[in-house]
Amino acid sequence: MDTPEFGNGDASYQAAGGIDGLRRLVEDFYRLMDERPAALALRRLHPQDLAASRDKLACFLSGWLGGPRLYSERYGSIAIPSFHAQWPIDQTLSDQWLDCMAQAIALQPWSTAFAEYLLRQLRVPAERIVQASRNRHAQA
Ligand code: HEM
Repeated sequence: MDTPEFGNGDASYQAAGGIDGLRRLVEDFYRLMDERPAALALRRLHPQDLAASRDKLACFLSGWLGGPRLYSERYGSIAIPSFHAQWPIDQTLSDQWLDCMAQAIALQPWSTAFAEYLLRQLRVPAERIVQASRNRHAQA
């Protein structure tokens, strides 16, 4: 089902429950990444202490979903594909990331329509990350 209304203004940010809702999502996301043996390769790319990672991702998602641009306020500008191209991120790592995110999304008290919309939207930058990483590392 197509739900273009989530793309309007801050509708997605509101549907997620604002910054508190996004922090709960990100908390679950990194906890699952930490716990799941299937996500071990992904977890190894991250620092041992995930506190800063949690804040950065929640802040980024806030602006990305039409809410306050907390990431650029706190950390400056970021281009998601080229930032991630510092690592060799292939389809397997991308799938691990999206699987953790799908499970974290399923834990939130959100409508099915918003849950499906958000996961669909996240597949777009995930795909761009794989392409940018492939291009960068193919030249090496
Ligand atoms: C495709 C699979 C992905 C992998 C393997 C991946 C991996 C990583 C890793 C290893 C870090 C560094 C963590 C740290 O140092 O704290 C990171 C940071 C980050 N990722 Fe991803 N990521 C993926 C997808 C995404 C997507 C789809 C988004 C956005 C929608 C995203 C947003 C971010 C942000 C905002 C940061 C923090 C940047 C910073 O250090 O300032 N990532 N990611």
